[in-house]
Amino acid sequence: MKVLVVGNGGREHALVWKIRQSPLVKEVYCAPGNAGIAQLATCLPIETSDIVELADFAQDARVGLTVVGPELPMVLGIADEFSRRGLPIFSPTRGAAEIEGSKAFSREFMSRHKVPSPRYEVCNSLDEALACCARAPFGFPVVLKADGLAGGKGAVVAKDQAEAEATARALMTDKRFGSATAKIVIEEFLPGEEVSFLVFSDGKTVLPMVSVQDHKRVGDGDTGPNTGGMGAVSPATHLTLDAHKQVMAEVILPTIAGLEKEGRRFQGVLYAGLMITDKGPKVLEFNARFGDPEAQVILARLKSDVVPVLQGVAAGQLKDVKLEWAKEACACVVVTAAGYPEAVQTGQEIRGLEDLAGQADVAVFHAATALRDGKLVTVGGRVLGVTALGASLPAAVQRAYEATAKVAFDGMTYRKDIGGRAIARLGAAAAK
Ligand code: AMP
Ligand code: GLY
Repeated sequence: MKVLVVGNGGREHALVWKIRQSPLVKEVYCAPGNAGIAQLATCLPIETSDIVELADFAQDARVGLTVVGPELPMVLGIADEFSRRGLPIFSPTRGAAEIEGSKAFSREFMSRHKVPSPRYEVCNSLDEALACCARAPFGFPVVLKADGLAGGKGAVVAKDQAEAEATARALMTDKRFGSATAKIVIEEFLPGEEVSFLVFSDGKTVLPMVSVQDHKRVGDGDTGPNTGGMGAVSPATHLTLDAHKQVMAEVILPTIAGLEKEGRRFQGVLYAGLMITDKGPKVLEFNARFGDPEAQVILARLKSDVVPVLQGVAAGQLKDVKLEWAKEACACVVVTAAGYPEAVQTGQEIRGLEDLAGQADVAVFHAATALRDGKLVTVGGRVLGVTALGASLPAAVQRAYEATAKVAFDGMTYRKDIGGRAIARLGAAAAK
């Protein structure tokens, strides 16, 4: 079978890497891909938003399955276009993807289906938002979110009224946060620790993946602005077995059932970004796709062939699919260019990757790389994800950092504390 992967980040490199290992697959294409993906797949010069062109290619090349990584083509209706032409696709429909595409829809959906969430208000104009900041119904700090897609950078924590007002103004007038800024959501700030809880679903059957902890803030000690994700570890040691059951019963199953009931059958990856609070897990956001870097650690821990599960989701036949996971832990350190998540420098030559090739326990997934005049260079903020397996979480983290130390480019930065909290918790539990 031929498989087409849509996207160009570390998540898509991990997908291509895993799909290539399947005996069911003869050829892999990726649109548009990156320099790392080009070593494993044929890259096509088609942008992720060109859904008609993608469908034309899949039709002409007789692609047996298309797998979509990022949210933009989902929200633009790639699954609807492919289905209309009878082309198998792993992506939720436009209607189902709204659970991620609109923060306001998503929060109102959670209220309708009683999914545990922070208190919130939807503001439809700057005046409404400023009035809400002045009233401060949830006190401070407070969280403000742009309604549309913003690449993980559209949520801002404001510590007081002045900061909240300035943020509301920026979100509603600054194009940086995406185009759908006519609305914002203002919500209660929840203290606690985050976990990414991802499941495969065909709309009926739900298969949970291993738990992951992402590291959203740019700086060590969870400081600085939010990013797309600076590193991830799996398992997330703070998600107890009880909490896992609670998330399935109170969050995942009601959401899948609620979407079905509202005529938005969900076929794809449902990703709940959760805060584990002292009152139980609450949903910070839903995504309609694999997380990045979460996908890198999840796919590294997946022992089963990924293709039958992707096909099962696409065909609505997940019932008989089983997943097997590696016992090893996994850690991913995201290597970024100077300035990320603001303006970044690009075009820096990347060195040291040859030393890491061919190692069984380390995979370097490319996120923003290209080949220019025979040289591997940076072309964006999140450049690489250095992903390592280990017998324990500390061993995986150590291995990921040893491998990261071999990589070099001008202005390279990365967090030094990925997995730090998870490991401290293991230590505290052992000392009890
Ligand atoms: P979102 O775009 O909704 O996923 O938010 C991005 C990040 O902002 C989350 O991963 C959290 O780190 C933080 N965040 C979002 N909502 C809240 C909240 N209600 N309370 C505390 N932190 C939040
Ligand atoms: N790492 C967070 C996300 O993919 O949204």
